[in-house]
Amino acid sequence: MRNCRRLEYPLAPNSQLFMPDLKERKMMKKDLLKLLDLSGQDILEILDTADQMKYSQKHGLPHDYLRGKTLAMIFEKNSTRTRVSFEVGMYQLGGHALFLSGKESQIGRGEPVEDTARVLSRYCDGIMIRTFAQREVEELARHASIPVINGLTDFAHPCQVLADLMTIRERMTRLEGLKLAFVGDGNNMANSLIVGGLKCGIDVSVACPEGYDPDGQVLDFAKSVAGPRFALVRDPAQAVTDADVVVTDVWASMGQEEERQQRLRDFAGYCVDSGLLSLARPGCMVQHCLPAHRGEEISAEVFEAHADEIFEEAENRLHAQKAVMYLLMKD
Ligand code: CP
Ligand code: NVA
Repeated sequence: MRNCRRLEYPLAPNSQLFMPDLKERKMMKKDLLKLLDLSGQDILEILDTADQMKYSQKHGLPHDYLRGKTLAMIFEKNSTRTRVSFEVGMYQLGGHALFLSGKESQIGRGEPVEDTARVLSRYCDGIMIRTFAQREVEELARHASIPVINGLTDFAHPCQVLADLMTIRERMTRLEGLKLAFVGDGNNMANSLIVGGLKCGIDVSVACPEGYDPDGQVLDFAKSVAGPRFALVRDPAQAVTDADVVVTDVWASMGQEEERQQRLRDFAGYCVDSGLLSLARPGCMVQHCLPAHRGEEISAEVFEAHADEIFEEAENRLHAQKAVMYLLMKD
């Protein structure tokens, strides 16, 4: 039961008197499409708001800031965490979320995204979308008059990385100057971690096999802003050495199921196991966005030893997304 316990959320001094004051917080943009669009300050603003959301939730303080508002959630890929955390988060904020399956709605029959955007803008107050192409999300946002939130594309998973940064800051008490190593596929998670990490002052090292590099736009960004604070290497040991946080993700993402066997061969040697982790700093954190494949990208031993951090990361999806919805959708 060691890893099933619920972490205590500490009471702040004078907690009875403490009411989070979110009134002054404002979001910078209409949408959250990718972390490349945000400044480091914007990201920290979301994390601070997320901490307050978590505090309110843990202490039963009222925070129904989105009373009467509705979020449409479009899913063209599977989900457990994203669907539940957005739906529960919206409920806790006093609003309502509705699920639209890509297949069962008219989106699956080819209705243009610009028409869906204009229709949903007349019923709802925000749209969350999980789909394949980033350009579909950008197109949706261009034609919607309400905020659009990216709930994962092949290119980016910004909400997940906000939760990761929140968890890292919570546990390590800071972000600036930490070293984060990502081991595995240069996928949506790698792309968003590189951008989010570097914007928050984290040094980022990525180890992936040749042919599986992160997106070129992300690498250009990293090279332009980070200099020696960013490294792309082939050797996982090199990336993980002296890391404060080690992150991995599946080797075959949604939509890549047919490449799975080839990928299992290509990623041999990229498993985050105890041997690899012994090169990181003592007390290093491990993060995994889930779902995890034990024995592939992460060993069962490492997963269970770091389960508290990994499930805290999953929980923080709720708080981070409540912060995003609050900042984007409040009046
Ligand atoms: N991590 C994550 O996005 O999980 P789901 O695919 O279950 O939403
Ligand atoms: N890279 C994974 C993340 C799942 C949350 C995928 O896109 O399937």
